Amino acid sequence: MTFDRAIKIAPSILSADFANFGAEIRAIEAQGADWVHVDVMDGHFVPNLTFGPPAVKAFRPHVRTVMDVHLMIAPVDPYLDAFAEAGADIITAHIEAGPHIHRTLQAIRALGKKAGLALNPGTGLDAVGHLLDLCDMVLVMTVNPGFGGQKFIASQIDKVARLRTMIGDRPIHIQVDGGVTPDTAPLVAAAGADVLVAGSAVFKGGSVDAPAAYGTNIRAIRAAAEGARQAAAT
Ligand code: DX5
Ligand code: ZN
Repeated sequence: MTFDRAIKIAPSILSADFANFGAEIRAIEAQGADWVHVDVMDGHFVPNLTFGPPAVKAFRPHVRTVMDVHLMIAPVDPYLDAFAEAGADIITAHIEAGPHIHRTLQAIRALGKKAGLALNPGTGLDAVGHLLDLCDMVLVMTVNPGFGGQKFIASQIDKVARLRTMIGDRPIHIQVDGGVTPDTAPLVAAAGADVLVAGSAVFKGGSVDAPAAYGTNIRAIRAAAEGARQAAAT
């Protein structure tokens, strides 16, 4: 993976057909997805359950781009090896998931993976400065994690902007996740986000038998984000 700040669209397969993950992953990539976002939930850190390392390992051969694994689990450290072995390219852990996020980020990098740090909407940036040099990405949650299809929380736009200033020239992605649509993507893109996760807004209206809607949806989000970037730069 080479670093750049171009807008990247990362569909969340939380909104895919759960009986058809391989075909869904191939469909979103064929329709222009830049990364594939995989939401792992434990029914404890968040009030929902999805899938564990064996499922993620089964997704891997279908992913040709980047497998971006968002761990909403606590504790997280005992499972890092398994998600690395499952083939994640990026492993993101929540700052709220335990007392030793610094150790967690070190462990992800020691496994040879890119390290992501996720922040819930209620979490401030105070502790992030001490962690940035261990991060390849910071994920600003724009909903409370656990479910797709929730409403975008606008107070996070300012957090993205302040994080962008903190990062400066360092090669660290800013990802946003939750409620991203063609209407909200411009707000976070102008503030400095480069990786936009979208679940319902990508998968709506399509299926593996009718994947063209995925492409239409991805292009709409990308165009809205890129337009806002250009406007912000002029
Ligand atoms: C929420 C997940 C998101 C979710 C986004 O806990 O981390 O990735 O799938 O879904 P939408 O785009 O529908 O808000
Ligand atoms: Zn996610």
